[in-house]
Amino acid sequence: MTRSDLPVDGKRLWDDVMALGAITDPQRPYTRRSFSPLFMEGRAWLARRFTEAGLKVRIDPGGNLIGRMEGRDAKSSTIMLGSHSDTVPSGGRFDGIAGVLAALEVARSLPAPPRHAIEVIDFLAEEPSEYGVSCIGSRAMAGQLEPEMLTRTGPGNEPLSTALDRIGGATAKLAQARRSDIAAFLELHIEQGVVLEQKHVDVGVVTSIVGVTRIDIVFQGAADHAGTTPMGLRRDAGLAAARLVAYLAERAAVLSASGRGHFVATAGVIEVEPNAPNVVPGRAHIVLDMRAEDHALAQGFIAELDRESLAIAAACRVERTRFAMLMNTTPAICDTRLRKLLTQSAEQLKLSSMPLASGAGHDAAFVSRFAPAAMLFVPCRNGKSHTPEEWAEPEALAAGTAVLLETVRRINENT
Ligand code: HGY
Ligand code: MN
Ligand code: MN
Repeated sequence: MTRSDLPVDGKRLWDDVMALGAITDPQRPYTRRSFSPLFMEGRAWLARRFTEAGLKVRIDPGGNLIGRMEGRDAKSSTIMLGSHSDTVPSGGRFDGIAGVLAALEVARSLPAPPRHAIEVIDFLAEEPSEYGVSCIGSRAMAGQLEPEMLTRTGPGNEPLSTALDRIGGATAKLAQARRSDIAAFLELHIEQGVVLEQKHVDVGVVTSIVGVTRIDIVFQGAADHAGTTPMGLRRDAGLAAARLVAYLAERAAVLSASGRGHFVATAGVIEVEPNAPNVVPGRAHIVLDMRAEDHALAQGFIAELDRESLAIAAACRVERTRFAMLMNTTPAICDTRLRKLLTQSAEQLKLSSMPLASGAGHDAAFVSRFAPAAMLFVPCRNGKSHTPEEWAEPEALAAGTAVLLETVRRINENT
């Protein structure tokens, strides 16, 4: 579908997405990890594009890059649009990036200065950062970047508070990152799933964003010779980790079919030490990632994993030395009025739409704590994301951006 009647410049948008995607670790495309020199290079590129679009650029105390266009009515509130520009390791060129650049394209395509102020935002570190915290910028804006999180350390034992200041944030002034002037927040994002593509639907209007729980677990046993240590004397931390990961998968399969909404879980980090083929693992570190629409179901499962991991440790004659919550967010409901405006805008542009829950976490979930927030999904090929194969068609991005523009027009007129 190549639409030439869309009120946005699809080629300009596409060229931006490809240009930002090119700022990546060449050894591991596409990688632009938050707080890294590459991330800062990407931000400098974004700041230039924001400035060229006539936006006033700043970095707020939460480390968010913001481009602002004042509204005609100085007393009006702000319509904020955007997403994140950081990636997972060996990720894609669209997750987050499409939303930041679609927001920029909306700002560039507005037919006249809007009544409301418009802000284009690149939220800091939406992906799990090296400091063990994700959604750092949107948490800060929601007043949920906790003091304990700021003490967590990353590469070179650097505390998050130091890293935040290093990239232009202001830990000492975090309270000033809070916002009370946001009339609406809209985030365009690739679906990172297969529903829109399989149903041949142009855009998804997100109903809710799952709660995300990440648990950091360490088992401590004893490294031993893999050839001479009798099985009955081994204190194999790797075995304990393997048993817990298998338990997680079995139980998550049952809970995902329990009729209590979207529920999935995996262990994305599995590390053993000393990680040698002929040594019984003395230490094992895993990070569990769970997504649930039903918060009570998730909390019950956390308690179950707490009990089961202790039982497995005892059975393997190892200690469980860490069971820590890295994050445990509640599910977010997207704003009903904004969802209606997004659906009406798609209809107006003769684009098909459908309601869809998000199994991925997003900055919009934190924004929804303090302002009306909604999300628009565009299809991505085979639903792939968080991999270099991630792909969205230029026409799909242009169509989603046009829906965003039309929705901003409607908000401007009716709020
Ligand atoms: O992990 C997530 O759900 C998001 O893509 N960061
Ligand atoms: Mn992601
Ligand atoms: Mn994302």
